[in-house]
Amino acid sequence: MAAFDLIIKGGTVVTATDTTTCDVGVRDGKVAALGRDIGDGDREIDATGKLLMPGGIDSHCHIEQVSGMGVMCADDFYTGSVSAAFGGTTTIIPFACQHRGDQLRAVVKDYHDRAGPKAVIDYAFHLIVTDPTEQALNQDLPALIRDGYTSFKVYMTYDGTKLDDFQMLDVLSVARREGALTMIHAENWDMIRWVTKRLIDGGNTAPKFHAISHPQVAEGEATNRAIALGRLVDAPVLIVHVSAEEAMEEIRLAQSKGLKVFGETCPQYLFLTMDDLDKPGAEGAMFCCSPPPRDKAGQEVIWRGIQNGTFQVFSSDHAPYRFDETGKLKAGPNPTFKQVANGVPGIELRLPLLFSEGVGKGRIDLQRFVDLTATAAAKLYGLHPRKGTIAVGADADIAIWDPDKKVTVNWDMLHDNVGYTPYDGMELTGWPTTVLSRGRVVVADETLQVDAGSGEFLPCDKPKSAEPLGRIVPEVDPKRNFGAEILF
Ligand code: URP
Ligand code: ZN
Ligand code: ZN
Repeated sequence: MAAFDLIIKGGTVVTATDTTTCDVGVRDGKVAALGRDIGDGDREIDATGKLLMPGGIDSHCHIEQVSGMGVMCADDFYTGSVSAAFGGTTTIIPFACQHRGDQLRAVVKDYHDRAGPKAVIDYAFHLIVTDPTEQALNQDLPALIRDGYTSFKVYMTYDGTKLDDFQMLDVLSVARREGALTMIHAENWDMIRWVTKRLIDGGNTAPKFHAISHPQVAEGEATNRAIALGRLVDAPVLIVHVSAEEAMEEIRLAQSKGLKVFGETCPQYLFLTMDDLDKPGAEGAMFCCSPPPRDKAGQEVIWRGIQNGTFQVFSSDHAPYRFDETGKLKAGPNPTFKQVANGVPGIELRLPLLFSEGVGKGRIDLQRFVDLTATAAAKLYGLHPRKGTIAVGADADIAIWDPDKKVTVNWDMLHDNVGYTPYDGMELTGWPTTVLSRGRVVVADETLQVDAGSGEFLPCDKPKSAEPLGRIVPEVDPKRNFGAEILF
């Protein structure tokens, strides 16, 4: 009998800390041994000349979700997870999104019903909290956190989703008490809607004005406020989809003071600019997302944040809408920028883009690549060490990369249901050619090898990232402090 169900021979194993050429033995879906001459497997993959990296974890993606504007995503849990897998991602953490009036427990059940029969890779859920009622705060959230939904996103913007500062504090204090991490979409809604009204009233309605309507200062101000709100109640926060210098500097400053403030950025802020929104007719709508892409100089700023560690995670924020009446053009063929569903696709290209432009161009090394795309997310969201690394005992979620494979991006080669890609025509070097999830070959020979519904739900542990610092209202002299416990 062979020692392993599967052995991957001769590849170079890359983790967030090391690069080693060795064989990988897989038994019962887990990495069972790493080394040379470790024995044989019932199945063998020759990975000579290839890189073995942990399958990516996409910790920010919208799948089979109805947006705040009432538009259904183009990808369901089948196309979304298949597309992720072809791009080297083996775990997704999409959102179970509460719309106002929804009961959180029912929302979670609903998303399980959507994902269970369709996902081909493993998945967890973040919650989106838009209606922090007494029931949600005191009963549903604590129970759901205990059941493995240990992170939630809140919005400081959009009419349908925005929480005010009072509500944010309520949510943050529940997160602190129960051990969950709060992800924050930080943009100042009043600034955005004020500028939007002026633009629309003046007849400036084309997609390119979307970028003007979401100024950097709106993102910077809200990021500053989000950090302050977290500080007041000593709750760690993660600022999602950071697009620009003002917000990034707020995060960096907070981190330099020792606060538990985490940052996420996304491909659209490295590879797109606001000029992409200035396409003929309504075509710029394909590039409308919030916050919007900025300019060329701003892309370099985001690279700096990736290099200097301000950003821990690089997620896709895959928010897929077709360029037709079901998606971007739901309001008609010539919508005002205000009527366009926000979001861009990117679940399949997230890793190839960062590999080619980051590792390939010498901006980051392989360790940083793995950390940004897999390991850090696993740690931040309570999935480590089961996910996010290649180590004995971890799930055998492995993307085997051909670092020299050259690809010119076009939508036909992708597996999502969007109909276009914002990255059309980009020439990339490096591609995941074989992708394993729990030792199962999910993608090989450019073909899907598994059935719909073979992905598994992952309950998340309460992550260390969510543990408070123990510094409540730090300005207060402890001798005169009544004891911060009276706040909770
Ligand atoms: O424009 C974006 N990012 N759309 C997706 C929803 C969100 O806010 O993440
Ligand atoms: Zn958002
Ligand atoms: Zn998003």
